[in-house]
Amino acid sequence: MPTPIPVMCDGPPPALRDLLGPEIEILEWDDSPDSPALARAVGILAYGHPRVDGPMMDRAPNLKVVINHGVGVDHIDVSAAHERKIPVGNTPGCLDASTADMTMALMLAVARNVVTGDHVARSPGFTHYDPSDMIGYEVSGSTLGIIGLGRIGRQVAKRANAFEMKVLYHNRRRDEAAERELGVIYAEFDDLLKQADFVSLNCPLTPETTNLIGTRELGLMKPTGILLNLARGPVVDHDALYAALHSRRIAGAGLDVTAPEPLPRNHPLLRLSNVVITPHLGSATDRTRQKMAEMSVVNLRAGLRGDPLPWPV
Ligand code: DGY
Repeated sequence: MPTPIPVMCDGPPPALRDLLGPEIEILEWDDSPDSPALARAVGILAYGHPRVDGPMMDRAPNLKVVINHGVGVDHIDVSAAHERKIPVGNTPGCLDASTADMTMALMLAVARNVVTGDHVARSPGFTHYDPSDMIGYEVSGSTLGIIGLGRIGRQVAKRANAFEMKVLYHNRRRDEAAERELGVIYAEFDDLLKQADFVSLNCPLTPETTNLIGTRELGLMKPTGILLNLARGPVVDHDALYAALHSRRIAGAGLDVTAPEPLPRNHPLLRLSNVVITPHLGSATDRTRQKMAEMSVVNLRAGLRGDPLPWPV
């Protein structure tokens, strides 16, 4: 049998280890200055969003490829990799449906008091049904504003259509094909914030989208508005978000991602009842995780062979 190729990977679960097979030697993650793993690694497989930057690549003289298990690559310095002629791959497409499902889950959870309702239903305080209690906001028929109508955003729009929502979107560029196909309506950024009952962030994290939603933007939203972040934490200024939620300047938020992630356990957002927070579960389904693992391994093997990656960034 040929000598296994050393690949550094952060905590791959048994299923991913099995897929990598005996021809790959998994090196434990070690990005320290004198890392023996980096000195040997021919590939890097980033599983749970570890930071991969240029200086780290410079400590890996044999490095041929960097693969991300997931689509967002904000934790990888892609330009630094490309400058060093190291291809970077990710897993686009396979997680669009599951992340869109989670967007709807958080939308419904916040609007319909699912989490607080669960706590009430379990508590001794729930003694009788009271029709004036825990009145939420109706999702069906309301207006959704999607910021970032990419692959995931389009799947969100499809689901919103089934809820008979009016769907606005904002992208850098208008997408007339999507407008025809999905019935979505382009809105200027500020107009979307003013008109939407639900503002859904489904954009990648880039320098342009960092702190995209701050005090000014939250101030434009309806007082009954609900913000959903299924993108990346740093898209939202969390101090501004806390102030807007605490003062009820906006009605609520559903966050699958935060900045930092996880939030420090004493972070004031964790004490608010008008926010539902999940621990980055957007793509966390059995089928999607399997597909992400398969695509990562196919991408990695191609890179190790020196072939073009099927899913390059
Ligand atoms: C992604 O693919 O970017 C998800 O956040 C999971 O990594």
